[in-house]
This record gives sequence, structure tokens and C-alpha cells, in this order.
Amino acid sequence: MEEIDAGQKRRLELEAKSAAVRKLGGEQKIEAQHAKGKLTARERIDLLVDKGSFVEYDQFMKTRSVYYGLDKMELPADGVVTGVGRIAGRKVAVYAQDFTVLGGSLGEVHALKIARTQDLALQSGIPCIAMLDSGGARIQEGIDSLDGYGRIFFRNSRSSGVIPQISIILGPTAGGAVYSPALTDFVIMTRKSSTMYITGPAVVKDVLSEEVSHEQLGGGLVHNQRSGVAHFLAGDDEAAIATAQELLSFMPQNYREEAPPGLSKDPVDREDISLRDVIPADANKPYDVKDIIARIVDDGNFFEVHRLYAQNMVVGFARIGGRSIGIIANQAKFMAGVLDINASDKASRFIRFCDCFNIPLLTLVDVPGYMPGTAQEYGGIIRHGAKLLYVYSEATVPKVTVILRKAYGGAYVGMCSKYLGADMVLAYPSAEVAVMGASGAAEIVFAREIKSADDPTALRAQRIQEYKEQFSNPYRAAERGSVDDVIDPKDTRYRLARIFDVLDTKRDPFPGKKHGNIPL
Ligand code: HXC
Repeated sequence: MEEIDAGQKRRLELEAKSAAVRKLGGEQKIEAQHAKGKLTARERIDLLVDKGSFVEYDQFMKTRSVYYGLDKMELPADGVVTGVGRIAGRKVAVYAQDFTVLGGSLGEVHALKIARTQDLALQSGIPCIAMLDSGGARIQEGIDSLDGYGRIFFRNSRSSGVIPQISIILGPTAGGAVYSPALTDFVIMTRKSSTMYITGPAVVKDVLSEEVSHEQLGGGLVHNQRSGVAHFLAGDDEAAIATAQELLSFMPQNYREEAPPGLSKDPVDREDISLRDVIPADANKPYDVKDIIARIVDDGNFFEVHRLYAQNMVVGFARIGGRSIGIIANQAKFMAGVLDINASDKASRFIRFCDCFNIPLLTLVDVPGYMPGTAQEYGGIIRHGAKLLYVYSEATVPKVTVILRKAYGGAYVGMCSKYLGADMVLAYPSAEVAVMGASGAAEIVFAREIKSADDPTALRAQRIQEYKEQFSNPYRAAERGSVDDVIDPKDTRYRLARIFDVLDTKRDPFPGKKHGNIPL
């Protein structure tokens, strides 16, 4: 009888202690959090993982710091909830910072809990998902907080390419704290409630006398549109979490696995006759490359990454025949799809992610060349453009290229041409694979002849026409084998499905090395 009582007592103690941890920073703080349109760490985890699947670890850990009264404070879970759960049945490791406990600030134990979650994810080969909402280094803990960040960055970097890492920014992220998300594969931000910056508005004002709001300095829109730090912009916490769930569905658990197949009733041999008309006959007219992508992929479902950044390049995930693929496409609708610094960076980062995690690449080409001018040259277009050449050559996943229209000069080479390692290059009849556009070429090659002609205008037009007939088509390239086949656009989906099927068992052993030296 006495034993039962003792057991009961222990159970009650456990329940009371757990309940204290579960109440986070208390009702008032939770209300304040909700008033800002934000959810608590636990509400966010409930939304993220399958019902009943979350198992929390280290809930009783607490700070060892005695400074500034920290030893007297109740800091439930030390401001971060950590554990494992499942998303659509697949295992994930999760940590969610809790702003209701001392502003989600990161002290030594808070960092140890995160590091433990990262270790668990890496050792088990499962994705690690971070939900950030924090005032940064816990000021009272000084160097212990800074070293805590060091632990986290180290693990972010060591996990890179082994397991997918996703950061969801749902509140402030300040100072060096921004570097953990920056080291992960994808950053999702909310429009209103999230910020990321190295130094806040007060410091900016002190040092530079610049007046800037939190949102202007590092809000969700800024990082999606201008800096490219974030890949997705969501309306609120719920939408941000849904974005992470969908994103995860396109990737495997780790670098040794393949992405799970998607379910679709869309037949792979579906023809689409309208694909013949998407690209305008006039090579200088714009069109939306996403109209082509939607006609090719399963159910027209394209999950775009970096939608608001460097819009002259489109990247994102889709499926063909249920197989997850990464798509990289020049966007004729923006700046004629020209390659510039930001487009090169955007595509390179995406390609590397896909290659890390065995996701085949489909490249759709319509590119007039590299962006000229001092702004680009001084900004290092040579260095940034080189990334694209590097990552395409480095990638060992199946690589299929479809040339839709222009494929000019160095940009033709850069957009995964045959000799940059494409396994298969297809071209539409509208493709123009040439050193440059016909008018530019005629101006250079026949400059003297045109200048001295009786009727320079007529001769220029004639020479342009001749050059077009000779080179502005896919057939010269097909004769050389640089293009493997010229296809009727209506058959694109079927042809791609067949090729990716064959390339499923592709193995491309890499020369032995420690790692390459990408032109960063
Ligand atoms: C300790 C902190 C804290 C921090 C916030 N709090 N940030 N406690 N360390 N870094 C506490 C507040 O004292 C407050 O406690 C509670 O969290 C909520 O904060 P509020 O200021 O009331 O909230 P809000 O008005 O929404 O403002 C949020 C904020 C602001 C913009 C994040 O708190 C802020 O500016 N904090 C400091 C940010 C910062 O400078 N962090 C250090 C960055 S440097 P009470 O008890 O009153 O509720 C850094 C270096 C990392 O992180 C280096 C890595 C290499």
C-alpha cells in the first residue's frame, strides 16, 4: 500500500513538473505573443508534426548561470522545445524557440538542447527543422551564449549535405544568430512578424545616422526580394509551417536516400499540344516559362523556391511520373532571362542542394547571354557566373537540358550544356544555339562590308537573315551531337519521363578529393 502511494507521489511530481514546463512563459506572455499574431513554440510544433507524434527531450534542463538572478528565475524548458516527431509519417528532429521565456534568448543550456537535437538528426539521418523566435544571445549569460552559437553553427555546417536543414523564422533573429539559418538549406520567413539582421535599427542609427524600421532593415519581404537570404515568404506562422511541410515532401531524409515518390494520376505520356504555342514566334517577345513548366510536370504543380528574388531565373521543385526533380529555367519575362550575379547565385545554390540529395535536374534554357556593364563586372559576375559552371559540372545527379529558344554564347555553355555534363540535351524547333543573336553577329562579322555597301540597310537585313538561316536553329548543334534530339514541344513531358527513368540508375563516380574549391 505504502509502495503504491510512493509511486503515485512520484507520478504526481512528474506531472506537476511537466505541466510547469508546458505552460511556457505563462498566460500573460502567451497572450502577448498571440497579440503579435504569433503562436507559441508548442502550438507551432503541434501544427508542424503529425498529431501525437512529437516526443520531447530535455524538457527539464535549466540554466546553470547564476548571474543577474537567473538562478532564481523559472525558465521553462530554458526557452526552447526540442524533440522528434513525424511529418506525413517521416521522422524529423525539431526545435522551436519560445519567445515567452525571456524572449527566446539563447543561453548555454538553450544552445546545448539545440545542439543535442542537431546531433540526433545527423546521427539518425533525418531532417532537422528549426523554428526561430529569439532576442539572440542571452545577455545575462555572456560568453556562454556566444559559445552556444558556435556549437550550433558547427553542427549546421557539419550536417550540410548529409541531412536537409530547414529554418522557419517566426520572430526576431538578431546578431550572429542569423548565421544558423543562413547555414541551413532553406529559410522561410513570415511577412510581418519575422526579422533577420546583423545589427538592429538602433545601432544603424548610432553608427550611420540612418533611420530604418525593423521591417525595412530585415523583414520577410526584404530578405525574399532584395537580399536573397530567405527562400520563402509566408503570410503567418501557419502558412510558414505549411510551406516547410510541402518543401520537405520533395526531398529525401538524407543524402543516401531518394526523395519519396509523389502520388499522381497525371499520365506520363500526356501530350500537350498547347506547348507548341507558348513561345512566341518573334524571338524578342517575352513569355512566362512557368507556363511551360506547368504543362510538363505532374498536375501542373510547381513548388517555386526564391520566387521573389532574381526573377530572371526560376528555380523550384516538381515531379514527373511521381519522381521529384529540381527545375532551373531562364525567365524570358524578366530582363529577357539574362544571366546576372543574383541569378547565378540563386541557381547555383539550388543545384547544389538537389545534387546533395539525389534530386535530378531539369534545365530549361532561353538565355540571351550574361548581363553586361560595370555594375555587374565590379560586382564580380565572373566569380558568381563561375559558380554556375562549377556546380553543374560538379553535380552527379541525372541532368537533362531542354533548349526552348535562345542559347547564346557563354550562357549557352553555363546553362548545363552537353559538355558541362548534361546527360541529355533536347531542343525545341524554336531553339537558337549560336554564339550570339543574328543581328549582333551580322553587325560584327560583316561590319566593313555593310559600311561600304550602296544600301547598308538592305545588306544588313540580308546578312542577318542569312546568319539566322545558318545558325539560329537547333540543327547545327544537333549535327555536332551538342543537342541529342529536336523534339515536338507537345511530347516534352513524355520524353522527359522516359529519360529520367533511364537515368535512374546513373552512377557518376567523382574523382577522389577532400572537397572542391568552389568560386565563392
Ligand atoms: C535576455 C532578452 C533578450 C536577450 C529579449 N529579452 N532579448 N533577455 N537576452 N537577448 C527579454 C526581454 O528582456 C523581455 O524580458 C523579454 O525577453 C521580451 O522582450 P521585449 O523586449 O519585451 O520584446 P519586444 O518588445 O517584442 O522586442 C523584441 C526584441 C528586443 C526586438 C528582440 O527584445 C531586443 O531588441 N532584444 C535584444 C536583442 C539583441 O540585441 N540581442 C543580442 C544580439 S547579439 P521580460 O522579463 O521583460 O519579459 C547576438 C550575438 C550572437 O545575438 C552572436 C553569435 C555569434
